[in-house]
Parts: sequence; structure tokens; C-alpha cells
Amino acid sequence: MIPVLKTDRITIPKLGLGTWKLAGAEGQAAVESALSLGYRHIDTADRYANEEAVGAALAASGVARQELFVTSKVWWDNLAPEAIRRSLEGSLRKLGTDYLDLFLVHWPAPGMDLPAILRTLQAVQAEGRVRHWGVSNFPPGLMRQLEELGGAPACLQVEYHALLSQARLLDWCRPRGIALTAYSPLGQGALAEQPVLQGIAARHGATPLQVALAWLLRQENVVVIPKAARPASQRANLEAIPLAAALTPEDVAAIDALPKDWRRVTPDFSPNWNFL
Ligand SMILES: NC(=O)c1ccc[n+]([C@@H]2O[C@H](COP(=O)([O-])OP(=O)(O)OC[C@H]3O[C@@H](n4cnc5c(N)ncnc54)[C@H](OP(=O)(O)O)[C@@H]3O)[C@@H](O)[C@H]2O)c1
Repeated sequence: MIPVLKTDRITIPKLGLGTWKLAGAEGQAAVESALSLGYRHIDTADRYANEEAVGAALAASGVARQELFVTSKVWWDNLAPEAIRRSLEGSLRKLGTDYLDLFLVHWPAPGMDLPAILRTLQAVQAEGRVRHWGVSNFPPGLMRQLEELGGAPACLQVEYHALLSQARLLDWCRPRGIALTAYSPLGQGALAEQPVLQGIAARHGATPLQVALAWLLRQENVVVIPKAARPASQRANLEAIPLAAALTPEDVAAIDALPKDWRRVTPDFSPNWNFL
């Protein structure tokens, strides 16, 4: 059973399937496999060009819509109010659903009109097209600006894993009940080579990637969305759930002490991550 994070703002499965680079028939098969293993939270985006494949998998799975948690995102060059609406309607059509559980601004854009974006997100929520809205790749200063405008996002999705600190954003999100969704929670697979994680994994009969996920899963207010194409990896990632309870305080302290400045996803349109 996948645990659920419940806050005043959102109820969301703590573990979901990431689908970046999972497209076409491979994408559909991966999402169908995950749903058959018990995953209920699927993370996609207009930009991933896979919403049709995800939608086909949702339909083929036979899982009732209300049991699913479906996230999609609007790309940063579509943040004018009408463009947000067009992107959302396209996502809904391709996914074959009449609402999203979570709709995210994928990246902030330089010079974006944040008040207009906020009004649009609140409007599509009031219209029932999205149950919750949130943002992704927003640094602390933009979270503050959003709040000053009266915006109450339900979720912030950012890169977060054993080699990258998000302490400041976690301190912002926790008291407000904003779910912090960790993307690239496995460091895109590279954490398999991390010696401290390897040592802890050996003691628990687990893999370093499972340890990396377990370290995140045990954290309050944190959700993880590892991407895994293969059923064996999807199953292994589910097994991180019991491992989260088995990590010792020494294990956790050793992971906490790792360097935390290794960012994998930082395209040229990234915001200033240090905007406080
Ligand atoms: N908001 C954003 O800007 C943003 C940015 C990046 C990512 N995301 C979201 O976050 C999701 C996850 O991030 P990510 O895809 O960058 O990286 P990730 O989940 O950290 O790592 C994915 C890689 O790990 C491998 N893997 C997964 N489970 C494994 C296992 N148990 N054993 C061995 N290898 C395993 C996958 O291999 P296979 O696929 O070959 O199985 C893949 O190569 C994305 O798919 C996307 O939904 C959002």
C-alpha cells in the first residue's frame, strides 16, 4: 500500500511514477505496468509529449478515475492566461479526463505576469478543471512573491535527492501544508554509484537507489516521483516504502551529511536558484 500525504491543502500519494522520456508505446506499457503494481499517482507534462500514451494507459488499466492522482504541467512559454487555458485543455483531452488532480506551472519565465497566472490558476480550479494547482522550479523568493499575491499553491515540485539540499524550500512548505514533490529523486539513476548509499544498502539487503528513495520517503511533507520504465525497477521502487521505516538514525545521519550541492536539472532558462 502506498502511503498518502495529507495536509490542509492536498492529499497525494507519497510515491508516484515520473514519465519524462517515457513516450509512445513504451510509455503506455510503463504506465500500465505501474498501475497494475498499485501505483496511483502519475506525473506527466505537456512538454513530455506523452499525455496521449499516459491517457491510453489510464483507460486500459480499468482503475476508476477517482482512485488516480494525475499531475500535468504547463510549459514556461505558455504562461499568458489564454495560453495556460489552451495548454490545460490540451492536456485534459490527450489524457482523456475532465479534470487534473494537480496542475503545475512547469518553470517560471523571465518577466512572467505572476498576478495574471495566479488568477488563471484560481479560475480553472474554481471551474473544476483542476482539483489543485501548484508550481515547479520556483526558488524561495518566487514562493514568497506568490504568497504575497494571495496565492496558496498545494504543491511545489523541485529537484530533491540525497545530494541536493532543499532545506529552505522545505522550511517554507511544511508549515503551510504545501507538498514538496522531489523530482529526479534518484539523481537520474546516478545515485546508484554513491558509496555511502551503497554501504547502507548492503547492510539492509537493498540497493543504493532504494536507500535514496527511502531517505526521501521518511521525510515529512515529501513526495517522490521516480521514473522507471521497467516493471522490475517499478517494483524495486515500491520496496523503498518499507525500507523507509527500517533506516536507522545512523543511516539517516550519514545521508544527511553527504554534500548537497549537486543539481542535475538546470537548463539555460532556469531561474536564479538563490533568489531568496
Ligand atoms: N518539474 C520538472 O521540471 C521536472 C524535471 C525533471 C523530472 N521531473 C519529473 O520527475 C520524474 C523523475 O525524475 P527523472 O526522470 O529526471 O529521474 P529519476 O527518477 O531520478 O531517475 C530515473 C532513472 O533511474 C532509473 N531507475 C529508476 N528506478 C530504478 C531502479 N529501481 N533500479 C535501477 N534504475 C532505476 C531509470 O531507468 P529506466 O527508466 O530505464 O527504468 C532512469 O534512468 C520525471 O520522470 C518527471 O516526471 C520533473
